[in-house]
Formats: sequence, structure tokens, C-alpha cells
Amino acid sequence: MGRTRKLKFETTVPDAPQATASPDLDPVWVARIRERLVAWYAEAQRPLPWRADRDPYRVLVSEMMLVQTTVTAVIPYFERFLNQFPTIEALAAADETEVLKAWEGLGYYRRARQLHAAARAVVTEHGGAFPTTPEAIRALPGVGRYIAGAIQSFAFDQPAPIVEANTQRVLARWLAWREDLKSSRTQARLWETAERLVPPEGAGVFNQAFMELGALLCTPRSPSCLVCPVAAECGARVLGIQDQVPTTTPKPPPLEVAEACGLIARGGRVLIVQRGPGRLWEHFWEFPTIHLTGVDPAGRSFADAVDLAEGIQRLTGVRVRMGPVVQTVRFSVTKHRVQLDASTGVGLSETLKPGPGLVRAIWEKPENLPSYPFGAASRRLVAWVAKHEAKFPDFESDD
Ligand code: ADE
Repeated sequence: MGRTRKLKFETTVPDAPQATASPDLDPVWVARIRERLVAWYAEAQRPLPWRADRDPYRVLVSEMMLVQTTVTAVIPYFERFLNQFPTIEALAAADETEVLKAWEGLGYYRRARQLHAAARAVVTEHGGAFPTTPEAIRALPGVGRYIAGAIQSFAFDQPAPIVEANTQRVLARWLAWREDLKSSRTQARLWETAERLVPPEGAGVFNQAFMELGALLCTPRSPSCLVCPVAAECGARVLGIQDQVPTTTPKPPPLEVAEACGLIARGGRVLIVQRGPGRLWEHFWEFPTIHLTGVDPAGRSFADAVDLAEGIQRLTGVRVRMGPVVQTVRFSVTKHRVQLDASTGVGLSETLKPGPGLVRAIWEKPENLPSYPFGAASRRLVAWVAKHEAKFPDFESDD
């Protein structure tokens, strides 16, 4: 028909260099993707609680929670959080401990602090009215390009692109893009493509549909191409490489870290400490914990190998007599894989002198521990304390 066909998707052969020029997408391809994706979404979408309305505050809370966390894990947190802080003013007025407590177990606590700071910024800098311009939305703490795009499109229907875990995989497949997903060249290309795909009207529904396709069909492994509404538009599918795209550079193995902590009892109370600012788990509570160097490859208990009593005295000022290791907790945090051995112990002195890195050290009744924000590993130990109170050498002499 005489019409010049524009580039539909990357049709590179393995190891061939890829074009860096911005994609001049075929308007027919773009129109098909938009139409088919939105039609599919109308039937297939999950009724997620943050989709019930377009309140920008709810969009902000849900997207902050969904970073690095699954939809299933987020749903109960989202509902509880919105019950506790139903408006942005309520969140701004809360103190940090309450917010961290509501976030407890979700991980990525920096997000909770940023969300809290964003709520305060909306109240103090915008009189409580959620900003609507891209610049003002982007200026909120913790709001990067992706969350800004979600707020702009879901709440205000502005044609802003979103590229996040789901949509970047979908885009890489549509473009049959073989380069490392995380490279800046790839990211630039994916954002450019998302920007061209998002429709001038109905951007919110399009972006939701786009994410939903990644979550439900265009999954990391074994994508469901047979039922995909845009399989015919997908470069990877056409080339039969949907299982090889996208590619990511494997992460280096985690660094092994060994820690030991004391569940120290005295007069029916247990010793807990609050971490200082500028550290991982800032302002969270835990049982006094020391880092141990060197991992025993035989899996022998680390706590046996060091003087935990001395470490706890340095940290808290309390002289202690240590008992046995009663619980070992393993968890991952950032690049580390941690083994934490918890031992029971008795406090031989009472006066507290919090050492470097701590804000406070207190003796607390076991039944009050659940009201403090603890990290995931410490919460397992709080549960252990609740279950084994009677085992603590000094817990029988309750006050
Ligand atoms: N992942 C990130 N944001 C999401 C959203 N709004 N809905 C479903 N999954 C998501």
C-alpha cells in the first residue's frame, strides 16, 4: 500500500549489536497494543483494594508498599495501614514509631520513612492538597520516576509512563531486547518506549493493564504466550525467544554474616535496645546484638566462640551471665545473608548505659514487646520469648 513500515520491534540476532537510536514505533503496532491490552484487562483484572478509587494518597501508599513486595503480601498491610491512617493528614500527624510499627514485616523500612515524610510534605508544603504537576509530585520524598508515573496516571489520568519490575520485562519482550535489563542504555530505551505507548487518554487504565499483563501472563518464567492478547505484537514471541528475554546479570553471592544476641532477663523483664540513626534498621528495637567475624563452615554455633557477655556489657552497661543458644534465625538483608544465634542470659546488674550505635536500652516486660517496632528476625525472637517465658532463669521472680 506504499506506506513505509516503521520499526515494530528489535529483530536482532544473538550477539549482534543493538541499535541505540530511539525506537520509531509503528503507530499501527502501538494502537493494537493499546486496544488489545485494555480489552484484556477489562476481563482479566484482579480486584485489588488500591484499584477501588483514584485517591492519590492511596496510590502513593500502595506503590510504596509494592516496591520489591508481592501483591499478596501487600494487601493486608495496605488495608490495615489505611484503617490506621485514613488520610494523608492522619499519616502526617502520626509519629515515626507508629508508622514503622504499621509497616513492620513489610521490609524496606526506608520506604515507610519516605512515605511519612511525603505525607508531611503534602501537608506542610501543599496545605494537604496532593500536588498534581509532575515536578511537584517528583519532588516528594521517595517518589522517583516510576511512582510519579503511577500517581500521575492512576490518580490524575495524565499520560505518564511507568517502568517497573513487571512492565520492564513486558517491554523487553515486546522489543525482543537482549541487553542486560539493568543497564542504563536498556532502561533509557524502555522508558522511551513506555512513553510512546501510553495513550493521551485513559493512561491510568492502560498502565494498570500493562502491569497486570506482566503479573498474570508475561511472567518471568514460562510466560503464557498462548493466551496473551498481544502475542502477535511481541518481538520475543515472534522470534521464539520469550524464555531468553529479558536477560539480567547474575547477582554476586550474598556476603555471609554471623551475629549473636542475648535474651537477657532480670526481675521478670527482658533487655531490649533501640538502634541509633544512620544505621540499617534505624530506630528499630532488637535484643542486644553483636557482630561476629568468620563463619564456621561446619555450621557450629557462632555464639559459643565469642564472649557474648562482654559484648552485651559494652553495648548496654549490664553485666550478664549467658546461658545456651536457644534459637538460630537466618535472614537476608541487602547484600547479606545473616545467621543470628540467640542465647538466654541473666542480668547480674540493672543500670543501663547504652553504648555506641544505640539510642536507648530498657528493661521491658515480655508482654509489652509486641508494641515496639522490631525487624523481622527480632520478631521471631519476641515470639520465642513469649512462648518460653518460663524457661528464662530469672523470669519466675515476676514483680
Ligand atoms: N506492582 C506495582 N504496582 C502495582 C499495582 N498498582 N498493581 C499491581 N501490581 C503492582
